Amino acid sequence: MKICAFLGSPRKTGNTNKILELTINELKNLGHEIETVYLIEKNIKGCIECFECQKIKDKPNCSINDDMQNLYEKILNSDCIIIASPVFCWSFSWLIKSFIDRTFCFDKYNEDGTYISLVEGKKCGLILTSAGDEFEGPDLVVESYLRMVEYHKMEDIGRIVIANILSEKDIFENPEVYKKIKKFVENLK
Ligand SMILES: Cc1cc2nc3c(=O)[nH]c(=O)nc-3n(C[C@H](O)[C@H](O)[C@H](O)COP(=O)(O)O)c2cc1C
Repeated sequence: MKICAFLGSPRKTGNTNKILELTINELKNLGHEIETVYLIEKNIKGCIECFECQKIKDKPNCSINDDMQNLYEKILNSDCIIIASPVFCWSFSWLIKSFIDRTFCFDKYNEDGTYISLVEGKKCGLILTSAGDEFEGPDLVVESYLRMVEYHKMEDIGRIVIANILSEKDIFENPEVYKKIKKFVENLK
């Protein structure tokens, strides 16, 4: 399967990428082809609500000429995407928020209020890390994520939520981390 992972932490060697890399190793062992996009290296502006995207129904047609144009192609050419984010103030990181807002152009509305999604049926997974417990932000982010997946008519393949990370030990010496990764990758067998 062709998988594209989007890292939304500003820290390329932070907690979220550590979990993402452990997950990628497992997915590679299963024979999946994976590319990681570090959103911190990309220029991605916020959605400006111009609705140019609604004028053309079979491609994203976003009017903003930035790195997202290339990422639209990557998403459309993937079978599965993984969104990896730290919890920032009870929400996705700013990098993931702009990224998700810009995927609005995949949904093409009809006059009767129905819509088609250019990413319908694609698989989507979430990796989330936080310093607080599961109810200090991760709960809300998971809810937003599930709404997004449903809205885009994608298929949720699961979520790896690692809360209470205060040091590297909480990642590498926590058996729960490996259990959660194993369960997640099994959904892509
Ligand atoms: C600006 C900011 C806001 C944060 N907000 C929350 C929060 O609302 N809830 C929480 O549990 N952790 C919060 N954290 C902690 C991070 O989610 C946590 O340290 C995360 O694992 C960092 O991931 P990274 O190393 O990949 O960037 C916040 C951290 C920062 C820098």
